[in-house]
Amino acid sequence: MNTINKKRDYTKFFTYPETSEFMADLLNPQPHQVILEPSAGNGALVKAVKKKCPETKVFAVELYPEWKKDLESIADVVVLKDFLEFTGMQPKYSGCIANPPFGNGVDLDAHIKKND
Ligand SMILES: C[S@@+](CC[C@H](N)C(=O)[O-])C[C@H]1O[C@@H](n2cnc3c(N)ncnc32)[C@H](O)[C@@H]1O
Repeated sequence: MNTINKKRDYTKFFTYPETSEFMADLLNPQPHQVILEPSAGNGALVKAVKKKCPETKVFAVELYPEWKKDLESIADVVVLKDFLEFTGMQPKYSGCIANPPFGNGVDLDAHIKKND
């Protein structure tokens, strides 16, 4: 029985604003920096980074197209791709902020290692 469809698909479990802002505080983005969000969802973490430092450039990758418009309204670059197969990485990001996909058979380790 599929009673909790959204929770079953944990890859789409978005970060609450308070947590996003806490994470952005830890990241402490600066105006000259480029930050990677490799599994951006509807942009909760992108939003928090931009709120903390609007001049920071945020590069957002997301597998599913449903949040394209949301992401395009807040991120500087939006790429709709599987991050694990993404080859357009910049030579150097200043930092990365992520709540990577988990559950539902996702290889969480692969996502974390690719962020290294
Ligand atoms: C746990 S949610 C977190 C979303 C966002 N980072 C946040 O904190 O609200 C994980 C996101 O990763 C996306 N995703 C799943 N597999 C992916 C992949 N292979 N490459 C890029 N994004 C992926 C899902 O669509 C979902 O939006």
